[in-house]
Amino acid sequence: MTTTDPTGTDPSLIPLHCLRFEEPGPPRLDELPGGAPAWLVSRHADVRQVLSDPRFGRAQLYAADAPPLSDVPDLVNNPDLMFNQDGPDHLRLRRTLRRAFTPRAVARWRPWIAAIVEQLLDRLEGRSGPVDVVEEFTLPLPVAVISRLMGLDDSARDRMRHWSEHAFSDGSHSGEEVESVLKEFSAFGAELLAERRRDPGDDLISSLVRAADEEGGLPEAQLVSLVCGLVVGGHDSTMTMLGNALLFLLGDRPESWPRIGADGEAAGRVADRLIHLIPLGDDRGTARHASTDVEVGGVTIPAGAVVLADCGAANRDPEVFPRHTLDDLFAPLEAPTLSFGAGAHYCLGAWLARTELQIALHRLAARFPGLHLSEPPDSVVWRTGTTSRSPRRLHVSW
Ligand code: HEM
Repeated sequence: MTTTDPTGTDPSLIPLHCLRFEEPGPPRLDELPGGAPAWLVSRHADVRQVLSDPRFGRAQLYAADAPPLSDVPDLVNNPDLMFNQDGPDHLRLRRTLRRAFTPRAVARWRPWIAAIVEQLLDRLEGRSGPVDVVEEFTLPLPVAVISRLMGLDDSARDRMRHWSEHAFSDGSHSGEEVESVLKEFSAFGAELLAERRRDPGDDLISSLVRAADEEGGLPEAQLVSLVCGLVVGGHDSTMTMLGNALLFLLGDRPESWPRIGADGEAAGRVADRLIHLIPLGDDRGTARHASTDVEVGGVTIPAGAVVLADCGAANRDPEVFPRHTLDDLFAPLEAPTLSFGAGAHYCLGAWLARTELQIALHRLAARFPGLHLSEPPDSVVWRTGTTSRSPRRLHVSW
C-alpha cells in the first residue's frame, strides 16, 4: 500500500476506500515501520503462496532476536495467540473451533443475527435528528453477535470497547497502560474458561473447552489468548468494516443504496465487494518469517527474512481482478478475495463477518431508504488500532 498521497494529506486521515495501492510487481526489499528490512510481496499469486506455504510461519517473528513488529505491546503480537502459532501447534488450537464457524453453522445463526439487526433498527427508528450510526448500529451489532455466541452478559459487553482499544492499541496508550488492561482482559478470559468448565452450556466457549479437553495438553495461556482474540477480533473487524462501508456507500455511492435495500442477494455481492476493496486498516501487509530460502515469483527470499504479504495490492492485481469490474459493486468477485487471508490462518470468522455485513447493509437500506451522511465525509474523526481504522463517530439522518 502506498503511504503517500498526491494532495499531501496525512494518509491516516484518508478514508480507507481512497487509499492508493502500488502496482503489484515482483517481491522487493522494503522496511518494517521500525526500519528493519522486510520483503514486500504484492502480486495475487505470490501473496497466496506466502500465506499458504508452511515454510513461511508466524512464530519465529517473535523470537528473542527478531525485530519488533510493533512499539507497544498488543494482543496481535502476543506470541500465545493462535494466529502466532505454526504447524501442529496451530492446528491443535484451530481444531477446537473448527466446527463452530463453518458456513453451515453460520447459516443456522442467520435468524437470530437478523433479529438483533431488526431490534437495533427499531431503536434507531425511534430517534430523530442526526444519530451516530457507530454508537447505535455498527458497534452494538457485532458486540451483540459475539456476546450471544459466547454467552456473555451485559457487563462484559460494556468492557469490550475498552479492551479492544487497548488490545489493538494505536500507540496513544502507554506501554504500561496497555499491559495492565491486557492483564485484566486475560483474567476475564481465564475466568470465563473456568466458569464454562464448571458449568458448561451450549455456547462457543463451552464447546471450545470440550474440544480442548478431547485434544488434551493445550497450554492454558494459549486457550486464554484464543478466547480474548475471539472476543475482540470477533467484533472489532466487523465494526470497522461496517463503519468504513457506510462511509463509502453514503458518501461516494448513494446511487447504490436503493438496490441494496431492495435485493438481499445483491446486498450480499456488495458486502463481498466492500470486504474485497476496503482494507481494515493501514498496515502494509500481514507478516511471515521465511524458515528457509524460498522462491516466490522468480525471486529468492532468503531464510530468516521477514515477509509482508500485501493483500490490498493483491486484491487489485489486474491479472486476476479486471480493472473494469473493480468499481462495479454488484458484480460477483472473479476470484476469492485475499481480505480474509489464505492458507492455514484463513480468517475463522469469514462467513460470520460476511453474513453480518450482508444482513446489516440490506436491512439498514430497506428500512432507511433516505439514509444520508449529516456531515461531510472529510470531517470524520478516526478510531485507529494496530490493524484497523474506522470512523469513531458517523452522524446520519433520514
Ligand atoms: C470483515 C471482517 C473480518 C476481516 C476482514 C478479517 C480478516 C482476517 C484476516 C486477513 C485474517 C488472517 C490474517 C493472516 O493470515 O495473516 C484473519 C484471521 C482470523 N480471524 Fe478474521 N476477519 C474478520 C472478521 C472476523 C470475525 C468476525 C472473527 C471471529 C468471530 C474473526 C476471527 C479470526 C481468527 C480467530 C483469525 C486467526 C485464524 C488463525 O490464526 O488460524 N475474524 N481475519
